[in-house]
Amino acid sequence: MLFKRVKPLDLILQTAEKKALVRQLGPIQLTLLGVGAVIGTGIFVLTAEAAQKAGPAMMVAFVIAAVVCGLAAFAYSELSSMVPVSGSAYTYTYGVMGELVAWVVGWALVLEYAIGATAVCVGWSGYMNGLLAHTTFFGLVEPGTLALPKSLQTGAFSGGGFNLLAFLIGVVVTWLLVIGTSKSAKVNAVLVAIKIVALTVFIALSVPVAKSGNLQPFLPGGWGTPLGGIGVLGAAASIFFAYVGFDAVSTAAEETKNPNRNIPIALIGSLTICTIFYLLVGYGAAGSIGAQPLMAANGLPIDPGTPEMAAACALAGNAQALVCSNEPLAHVLRVLGHVQIGNWIGVAAIVALPSVILMMMFGQTRIFFTMSRDGLLPEMLSKIHPRFHTPHVVTFITGIVVAICAALFPVGKLADTSNAGTLLAFAMVSMGVMILRKQQPDRPRPFRVPMIWVVCPLAVLGCLLLFVNLSVVAKVVFVVWAAIGLVFYALYGYRRSDLAPGRHPPQGDVHLESAPKFHEGPDPGP
Ligand code: ALA
Repeated sequence: MLFKRVKPLDLILQTAEKKALVRQLGPIQLTLLGVGAVIGTGIFVLTAEAAQKAGPAMMVAFVIAAVVCGLAAFAYSELSSMVPVSGSAYTYTYGVMGELVAWVVGWALVLEYAIGATAVCVGWSGYMNGLLAHTTFFGLVEPGTLALPKSLQTGAFSGGGFNLLAFLIGVVVTWLLVIGTSKSAKVNAVLVAIKIVALTVFIALSVPVAKSGNLQPFLPGGWGTPLGGIGVLGAAASIFFAYVGFDAVSTAAEETKNPNRNIPIALIGSLTICTIFYLLVGYGAAGSIGAQPLMAANGLPIDPGTPEMAAACALAGNAQALVCSNEPLAHVLRVLGHVQIGNWIGVAAIVALPSVILMMMFGQTRIFFTMSRDGLLPEMLSKIHPRFHTPHVVTFITGIVVAICAALFPVGKLADTSNAGTLLAFAMVSMGVMILRKQQPDRPRPFRVPMIWVVCPLAVLGCLLLFVNLSVVAKVVFVVWAAIGLVFYALYGYRRSDLAPGRHPPQGDVHLESAPKFHEGPDPGP
């Protein structure tokens, strides 16, 4: 019965047509939007985490994660070109697999976006703390004078206390979103340029001094274990975070010129650009200063982000290890003797990462907004601020959770948890494409997944493989979160849904008048 509660695709499209978002994004802007959303904590911070799990073989992990994303990107392209509306995986699932699955996906996307934003806050704090510890502030102070006390540099669950800067950046971004700061295409383009220049400088200084000896042993952590969380597959499951965000391109479908052509171009284009950069960065980091993991007594790499890892890193002999750094790219350059340039890489990360946080929290509010508009979450959540025209209630709630989690948890575990949600969404989108090919073979498809019966099943299997290899804690959080979601759906959404018997008849979208103008900033007034 529940699987029959499907929101017809034509109705979803009709909803989109009624909305007044301006179609202003072209293929280059859209690719930049993708690259802007994708490059972030993954490459700037989780490189150390991946090295701790896989050693130099983290480069293989980058490729595995990219392949899984690439397969899913094809599926996203077909669905988003057919149904160019906001809401991404949640909306597509609603139209193809019905309300219950859509609910599960929407609920999982909360992990992707909110916990993902949290991970980026922690990553940002790593670079900010590193810069404070190394800067001489134009020669005015001794290095280390401005550093925060150790207990305020990392969270309680990673061997520290309260990660103050991660908390503060979460609060600031929440405030920016409430007052209506949107991802202005121009600012985004500048930030993407900063990230690309930073990665290019890193590659230019590290790759030429890479030595093959530094890549030996290549596979110190093995391929993985049945419990997951370690080895090349464990690293791939974590570093998958570095690719998350390209689906932001499809959430901008309603604001895209000629979405049928431009969305697939931007999805696949942004993914390709990022993969090339990541491989070169991984090679440069591992090849120039080495990337060997710290081993536990059982002969396996120590689980990164744990108090045991913090204790191992505190030993003097490990001070220079890549795997111990919270700001690995800046660290590599400092070890190579480029102290000032390392600091500037830090500045680039500090300037650019907040836009990723903004984007992810923005995505979160958009998903909650759409779900509440469909009646699955309380209508109060889609309340719009009278002056700023932003969904302030949902933004505040998201912001508080993000800031507090950022203050307490380690970046790798947060990224893994975010990945769990994303992998479910990717798998569902890939299944949705196959189901729709069978159910509605004649519906126009401006973009068709090539060899769909190979590509989409492989995408689903790839997501499953990565999911299994996430750290245990991420899988447990995912299951508990899903259980809470199902109980909430049974008690609330099932009865209050717009598609429930006796509720609003689904004619277009009843709440559309209050839709936020996410990309247009504050209303200029009459
Ligand atoms: N891919 C984004 C990042 O690495 C989420 O920060």
